[in-house]
Amino acid sequence: MSRLRQLSDDTYGPGAVGDRDPQAGVGSDHPMRNVTHQVAFEAGWSSGRARKVAELFDSMASEWDASHSDPVRVAPVSDAIRRGELQLEGRWLELGAGTGAGTRLFAPAVKSLVGLDLSLAMLQGAPKRVAPLVQGDSSGLPFNDDTFDGILMVNMLLFPDEVDRVLRSKGQIVWVNTMGDRTPIHLSPEDLLTALPGEWAATWANSGTGFWAVACRV
Ligand SMILES: C[S@@+](CC[C@H](N)C(=O)[O-])C[C@H]1O[C@@H](n2cnc3c(N)ncnc32)[C@H](O)[C@@H]1O
Repeated sequence: MSRLRQLSDDTYGPGAVGDRDPQAGVGSDHPMRNVTHQVAFEAGWSSGRARKVAELFDSMASEWDASHSDPVRVAPVSDAIRRGELQLEGRWLELGAGTGAGTRLFAPAVKSLVGLDLSLAMLQGAPKRVAPLVQGDSSGLPFNDDTFDGILMVNMLLFPDEVDRVLRSKGQIVWVNTMGDRTPIHLSPEDLLTALPGEWAATWANSGTGFWAVACRV
């Protein structure tokens, strides 16, 4: 039996599936693509890499929100909330919350949400009081084992062991790439399941310019 179940494309949200994204020059040759694969499959993270990634996002923080929070861009987050059969009554964590593009939609939908990001400048660009926000590195999360019912990641690196550690046994992972396979930090739904420790299954769908996947242990 396939570990992946694809729902029909989202015809509800703003923007047709596959709309061209105005941001040119991104995609499979983006330098973050290699980093994404190394972190997910080869534990390719170090303090030096953390410093460089934090500096990179610090430098983009002031411009980030204007180009990453429009309704078409975040359509997969809205669609995952609508069709992803999420445990909305649970306790959720968002990794790589950035300036809050996903946080703004997710926080009102779930019982509780904490956002975490490596870049202080990105967090400072997030709307105040949308959710508690913590500066931290997802390679070593400041939370106990089995703390969360769900983890949201929007265009974020996957740290499989830490995600697995802090997520409860019936927990859900919401994985969003807002530009689909042209997202610089991209893992396909299949890659997501392969990178996570143990056996997982996912439901996923295309939405807006990207896709969402909701994964849980089997
Ligand atoms: C491509 S941005 C996405 C931000 C936001 N989710 C969005 O979609 O607009 C990636 C974010 O992940 C954060 N990040 C990268 N590595 C991280 C790590 N090890 N721990 C926590 N956050 C990290 C970056 O600082 C940045 O804010």
